[in-house]
Amino acid sequence: MPTDIANRFLRVVEAAAIAAARTAGQGDRNHSDQKAVEAMRKVMEGVPMRGKIVIGEGERDEAPMLFIGEEVGHWQHSQPRVDIAVDPLEGTNLCATGAHGSIAVLAASEEGGLLNAPDCYMKKLIVGPRSKGRVDLDAPVAENLKAIADSLNRDVEDTLVVVLERPRHEELIADIRKAGARIHLLTDGDLSPAISACVTGTAVHAVMGVGGAPEGVIAAAAVRCLGGEIQGRLVEFKQGDRKRAEKMGVGDFDKHHNELTLAPGKKLLFAATGVTDGELMRGVTFFGTGCRTHSLVMGLEKPRRIRFVDTIHVDADVGDPLEIRL
Ligand code: FBP
Repeated sequence: MPTDIANRFLRVVEAAAIAAARTAGQGDRNHSDQKAVEAMRKVMEGVPMRGKIVIGEGERDEAPMLFIGEEVGHWQHSQPRVDIAVDPLEGTNLCATGAHGSIAVLAASEEGGLLNAPDCYMKKLIVGPRSKGRVDLDAPVAENLKAIADSLNRDVEDTLVVVLERPRHEELIADIRKAGARIHLLTDGDLSPAISACVTGTAVHAVMGVGGAPEGVIAAAAVRCLGGEIQGRLVEFKQGDRKRAEKMGVGDFDKHHNELTLAPGKKLLFAATGVTDGELMRGVTFFGTGCRTHSLVMGLEKPRRIRFVDTIHVDADVGDPLEIRL
């Protein structure tokens, strides 16, 4: 991958987050998404890479920008390809209502390093590094919770599981409650808590349930960078899900995935910026002469660096004196 690419990707997610944040609370999720997409696409154009969107805003005929297969960046001949999975605004409803937890996010790798997941659902189980290797997607919920609690040296009652509040999760929620763990029910956005589950001190110990498969792949890139574990399996929800997956090159629809099959890349990169406030990153704040963003940038490169980046963006037309606020 080109050198300095992490910094370039940081600017890509920052731009998307700033554009989306300007629409926060306006009640129009499509508008918020569109702003994020446009900003992300524009900055991506300036990145010196031979990029290809493998997870994006949809198929070419349904998305004008950042569609699957779109070539992005600018490059010389013979430059190796970079595969990119983007979610310019993860948690569109959260942004539209000004609620916690929306982010702008992307993952990148060498060619073939990210599963080309179709836009369908995936059953997921995500835990942090200390619980890695102790859980099983197909095990009873109570067993997994006991294993997670044991790995964290605590009682099941002291663990917190994040679950999307959906009718399809009624049984899962009942099982978690029966086992005694605490639940944080979210209206939207299972990607942010997937990252949080891998970071000690966020009070999130696991994410369980069925969410978007593309979000599962992007989460897998983050989980690998943080040493956690994700297990997942595609779920046939709508007619045509299997066909769509096949078309995208997914050989075995029923495969039991983990972070290494969802994001197998050797040169993974992950970048995210908070749009609205969240557990790990604060949302964008505007202060008249600019704005401030909080981001997370990380990769697999050794020595491992997990960067929380706090950036003040000064508007181009602001002259002296600069006013930088804490
Ligand atoms: P959007 O950003 O497209 O609004 O998706 C947010 C999200 O909540 C994901 O985090 C999650 O994986 C998926 O949607 C769940 O899908 P659904 O809302 O159909 O249950």
